[in-house]
Amino acid sequence: MRHDTIEKSVNLMIVLIIVAISIGGLIEIVPLMISSDANEPAENIEPYPPLRLAGRDIYVREGCYNCHSQMIRPFRSETERYGPYLTAGETVYDRPFQFGSKRTGPDLARVGGRYSDDWQRLHLTDPRALVPESNMPAYPWLTDNMVDGELITKKLRTLQFLGDPYTDEQIAGAAAAVEGKSEMDALIAYLQELGTNRKNRR
Ligand code: HEC
Repeated sequence: MRHDTIEKSVNLMIVLIIVAISIGGLIEIVPLMISSDANEPAENIEPYPPLRLAGRDIYVREGCYNCHSQMIRPFRSETERYGPYLTAGETVYDRPFQFGSKRTGPDLARVGGRYSDDWQRLHLTDPRALVPESNMPAYPWLTDNMVDGELITKKLRTLQFLGDPYTDEQIAGAAAAVEGKSEMDALIAYLQELGTNRKNRR
């Protein structure tokens, strides 16, 4: 078929564009769906324990992803600053993943252990007390809100149903694991382990 025939028929052009994009899409997407690198947990990656799971949900609720990515790209400028680039296998238990694309603040994919718990607590309560030029909002209410043990038990049960390998013992102990913990404790627990599985490996 001559090319000008295609260009003169809008419908034919639409069909052929869809075919071309579908083939390209399949070639890009299907390998990821079957590759174990992308689907299976990387080394030292386990489903979030109850307190960290609560923290991850607070991170999402408060919209931290609007200013922070969790996606270190494989470029020297990024790995020098943030540590080893992020691999898909590290995010298999993130529902939804927190890659993000906006970096008003630094990437947090490997922020775990970079600061002390006390630093994180003060920073989240009053960022400008530690970084005077910061434009990060303060989240003082997290200290007053307590984590709901019943809700976290339900979340674990749902994730188990979806295929995350939580044991029944973990679910039975979930409420006790967050007993007496504030939302601030949960968020700090979440942050302090982010990316620590590969922290010291390049
Ligand atoms: C309006 C944008 C904005 C939002 C929303 C935001 N941050 Fe930030 N964040 C920043 C900026 C800018 C910095 C760098 C200055 C500083 O340290 O305060 C930062 C720094 C940080 C750091 C220190 C990172 C490092 O490597 O030094 C952590 C941890 C952090 N934020 C966590 C959070 C969490 C958790 C939330 C949600 C509860 C959040 N941020 C919401 C802008 C934001």
